[in-house]
Amino acid sequence: MSDLDLVMAAFADRLRTARHVAVLTGAGISAESGIPTFRDAQTGLWSHFNPEELASPDGFARNPALVWRWYAERRVKACAAQPNPAHYALAELAKRVPHLTLITQNIDGLHQRAGSPCVIELHGSLHRARCTVDGSVHTTWDYDEELPHCPNCGAMLRPDVVWFGELLPRRALEMAWEAALDCDVFMSIGTSGVVEPAASLPRVALSHDAAVLILNLEQTTAARPPLFTISGKAGEVLPRLVREAFDR
Ligand code: APR
Repeated sequence: MSDLDLVMAAFADRLRTARHVAVLTGAGISAESGIPTFRDAQTGLWSHFNPEELASPDGFARNPALVWRWYAERRVKACAAQPNPAHYALAELAKRVPHLTLITQNIDGLHQRAGSPCVIELHGSLHRARCTVDGSVHTTWDYDEELPHCPNCGAMLRPDVVWFGELLPRRALEMAWEAALDCDVFMSIGTSGVVEPAASLPRVALSHDAAVLILNLEQTTAARPPLFTISGKAGEVLPRLVREAFDR
């Protein structure tokens, strides 16, 4: 058996008997849907842009039209993208375990389109806009407007996403933290784990001996229970993991 086979078999045993699985996903789970990640040197979004210019309150104040153009392009790409086998595997996993909490840093909406019933969006969504004055949230707006305006009060809308220097939605963060504390299995999928507070969630799970899987392209593939690490593509590993756990 390869290292990957051994780690998959060992972690599948934990999944099979799990009471509460908490899952944190990052840009890597959407990479195989053709959506660029942030920090990959070649394709990463940040390799072409300075995040402070585009994903910050100051950047928006300085040039709202540029920021809206960037998010509008990302929304169009997200709409044109399709969920990949990794998204579908997590939707399937939710049907096979007693309780699954899905937490994402992604704003592309692909988990919902893959059928995941309840998604905690820590960093907001490309598919919502928020009024800069009355705080109302909108799931549709005039996409042709360079600077969309609130239908209620006429003030400028902004993308309903969390920018650098901003706090995460309080309730979303509370639910994510509670899940990390309560779960007996935690899976971190496709995230570099560099942005807090999401980056702390796997450590919270480890602190009470939950089985923790870290799956991205940087890890080494190893099992040091309760920590399991796999270097691999989520679209290949997750469907195989669900089969290993429930369809043998
Ligand atoms: N399968 C699994 N993991 C993958 C794949 C793949 N096919 N492709 C890339 N990855 C991994 C990379 O190895 C990396 O660890 O996905 C991770 C992507 O990391 P980032 O680009 O840093 O994205 P993310 O961790 O989601 O960033 C977190 O930072 O920029 C902010 O708000 C932004 O939500 C984002 C947050």
